[in-house]
Amino acid sequence: MSTPTTLHPGGVARRRGSPAAGVRRATARRLSEVVPPVAPPVVPLTDELVLGGLPGADDAEADLTLASVVKFHAPEVVFGLGALDEAGFAAARLGARRPLVVTDPGLLEAGWVSVLLDRLHEARLSPQVWSAVTPNPKDHEVRAAYDFYAGQECDVIIAIGGGSCIDAAKGVAILSSNLGDILDYAGVDQVTKPIPPLLMIPSTSGTGADVSQFCIVTDTERSVKITIMGRALVPDISLTDPRLLTTMPDALNAATGLDALTHGIESYVSLAHNPLADIHALSSVRLVCGHLRTTIDDPTEERARAKMAQASLQAGLAFSNAILGATHAMSHQVGGLLDAPHGVVNGVLLPHVIRYNAQATPDRFVSLATAVGLEVGAMPGAEAAELLADHVRRLADDVGVPRGLRDLGVTEADVQQMAHTTLDDACLTTNPREVDEADVRRLFLGAL
Ligand SMILES: NC(=O)c1ccc[n+]([C@@H]2O[C@H](COP(=O)([O-])OP(=O)(O)OC[C@H]3O[C@@H](n4cnc5c(N)ncnc54)[C@H](O)[C@@H]3O)[C@@H](O)[C@H]2O)c1
Ligand SMILES: [Fe+2]
Repeated sequence: MSTPTTLHPGGVARRRGSPAAGVRRATARRLSEVVPPVAPPVVPLTDELVLGGLPGADDAEADLTLASVVKFHAPEVVFGLGALDEAGFAAARLGARRPLVVTDPGLLEAGWVSVLLDRLHEARLSPQVWSAVTPNPKDHEVRAAYDFYAGQECDVIIAIGGGSCIDAAKGVAILSSNLGDILDYAGVDQVTKPIPPLLMIPSTSGTGADVSQFCIVTDTERSVKITIMGRALVPDISLTDPRLLTTMPDALNAATGLDALTHGIESYVSLAHNPLADIHALSSVRLVCGHLRTTIDDPTEERARAKMAQASLQAGLAFSNAILGATHAMSHQVGGLLDAPHGVVNGVLLPHVIRYNAQATPDRFVSLATAVGLEVGAMPGAEAAELLADHVRRLADDVGVPRGLRDLGVTEADVQQMAHTTLDDACLTTNPREVDEADVRRLFLGAL
């Protein structure tokens, strides 16, 4: 096999296991000797990150020998209060000299970008900032950011922000080596050339985009969100500092918390679920249900923030490997049409989809209901799913999510078109129950 051609300006192409990767690792070691790490003690992941022993996880789920072949994609994870101070060292480890920092005005205003830039300068790097990302990042923003990246001859790509900044950064990475238009890469494994190294710093809890193999971009001509999926998109380093979460407005906190919950639930019942993803899914669902309310009531309470950051991370690991389902497939259509907050739309749709899916995989819903502390005993799965759907709705009520899509601006006239485009969404393929256009239409109408 020939050596990969490097097309992006910085010349830091990525191919795991290739000779080039070996050379980069050697370079990284040398860099780490030259650039001392600014390393405060990073708080370790909390006790929930243990295999087995979780409510809802039975022996079969924790037993890999009973499963077929499993692949699990994950970046290097740097996690803990104070972890942002590690960013310069992490970027240098990836071979950065002139990294592109992709972010948005909200993150600039919150002050986190300036902390990041300080850390990058301390590591003797020359960061270039692109800060024009908007929520639900648009195809033209990705193109403009890529032009900036190429013009500035950047190398490593760093995102600091919510899922929108992270997805925009992934979009730039795709264009930098694969060229063409970002919309050309919709679907599974359409990104075939190695992309530059990615360091992702999430500021919401969260989309899990910092660990996932997904990139979601709005097609502004068709008003739909396209899903680009493939293992090439799994970032190299995910760096989570729960301190960043403290500047989130409550509505964003609520929305992204429900997004993480949706990732946990959808990946656990997905047709592609597997034992390694299951354990993260169950833990994330338990953590969101146990701690999201506290972060709304007491926004500066660090323990609950750390738990929510962990929930986001684990939900991301789960769905990146087990994929999602109908909630996300439908939510992407609402997001594309109305620029509505992704997590809020998920929060509205999720209870409806849980009820729809219950008959396809009842036992999985018993495990999920147990994980969130519901007394299900020997209850049939359909009933446990009903209790879980109510539990999710109560949480959504408590954190201020509207009860129906109508409150977000969706009308009956939108349903036909959205039901049609839902069928093209890659997330639908792993939904545990078959869904046709009429089913989606009914689900949308029920959630209005
Ligand atoms: N790639 C994936 O795997 C994946 C998964 C789920 C969702 N997504 C995508 O992520 C996007 C949503 O991302 P999001 O919900 O994280 O929000 P976002 O990135 O859209 O940010 C929303 C707003 O919140 C502000 N903000 C973010 N963090 C802040 C903080 N800590 N302090 C102050 N302000 C802050 C931003 O400046 C922005 O104005 C959607 O486009 C969705 O489709 C991607
Ligand atoms: Fe999501």
